Amino acid sequence: MSDLAARFRKLWDEIAPIGRDAGSGGYLRYSLTEPELRLRDWFRDQAEQRGMPVTEDGNGNLFAWWGDPEAGDAVLTGSHFDSVPHGGAYDGPLGIVSALLAVDELRDAGVTPVRPLAVGAFVEEEGARFGVPCLGSRLLTGALPAERAAVLRDADGVSFAEALGGAPAGARPELLGRFRSFVELHVEQGRALADTPDAVAVASAIWPHGRWRFDFAGEGNHAGTTRMADRRDPMLTYAFTVLAANKEARLRGAHATVGRVSVEPNATNAIPSRVTGWLDARAAEPDTLTGLVEAVHDKAIERARRDGTGVTLTEESATPLVAFDGGLADRLAALLDAPVLPTGAGHDAGVLAGHLPTAMLFVRNPTGVSHSPAESATDVDCAAGVAALARVLGELTC
Ligand code: GLV
Ligand code: MN
Ligand code: MN
Ligand code: MN
Repeated sequence: MSDLAARFRKLWDEIAPIGRDAGSGGYLRYSLTEPELRLRDWFRDQAEQRGMPVTEDGNGNLFAWWGDPEAGDAVLTGSHFDSVPHGGAYDGPLGIVSALLAVDELRDAGVTPVRPLAVGAFVEEEGARFGVPCLGSRLLTGALPAERAAVLRDADGVSFAEALGGAPAGARPELLGRFRSFVELHVEQGRALADTPDAVAVASAIWPHGRWRFDFAGEGNHAGTTRMADRRDPMLTYAFTVLAANKEARLRGAHATVGRVSVEPNATNAIPSRVTGWLDARAAEPDTLTGLVEAVHDKAIERARRDGTGVTLTEESATPLVAFDGGLADRLAALLDAPVLPTGAGHDAGVLAGHLPTAMLFVRNPTGVSHSPAESATDVDCAAGVAALARVLGELTC
């Protein structure tokens, strides 16, 4: 194992047990809960060991600075610590750990950056606790007003403001203005690099995507005594809608997933009174995405008429097509001799791309699986990612 791969493993092992579920082997690192707070403490400690002061932006995002935090013209790198339920180890933390190691690499190489370098840890990227993905970067950039974020609630009714220990600060244009560019390193989340000789790629774009809540209302009743003809069962409308989403996505070359559902009263022997399903939909083109969601909604309405149920659709979050800075992507691809590819996954980089030149590096994922304990990356590839990030940061800060 190379020296860098061994150093990666040593640092990685420090966080590997935090928030790991022994049963699934996946991670339960919801933002601002105990495991994520431990990761944030670990981050502060690592920054301190490197003599990097840490600032917080009033929204839950942390920044560790190599250089003067006030100087401006800083290069930002980093990612997030939070996970989806039973998520993989790499989605998020890889970008933060790699950034810390890239700082070490640059220092070992005797590089003194002309511009400050900041390592960021963004809060609630997955939206697994409060429902809105990239919450921290949306707040920082003003894409989501602070008043709306403050009242988002988790499954236990705890608001984001309560979890944060106060109302979020919201848009911080003066802080954002101190950054000249952002580079997020991330594990690749499909099979795009799995069968290629490349350990690292550069991102070209993020598909437009969003989350839509379908509420299906019916009549709760007894499972044993209610004649089949008399039922108004929202589960049927829900089930039909899931199948319709799958079919419509396939027809369009898009992606549609219903990965979360809630049922009331959620009893085996009761016809549900209400079913809520969350649709995650993504497509390469914005029109395809809009057409997909409209078609699924139309099908749901049609079916609800048949089932005697009601259906309402609520858009919970929407992220437009992100085309990363082409000049920067080309420059990094040439520097690293790396391929350039799009992704269907959302990232804080997608939010920041609307405000400053932004790029992403992807590290090969041999299983091609993500948002699952089976997510993977080898230590050797992670070391290649650190080396690539160090080169990029060296180039951008000097
Ligand atoms: C976040 O990882 C997303 O793409 O849903
Ligand atoms: Mn993710
Ligand atoms: Mn991620
Ligand atoms: Mn993501």
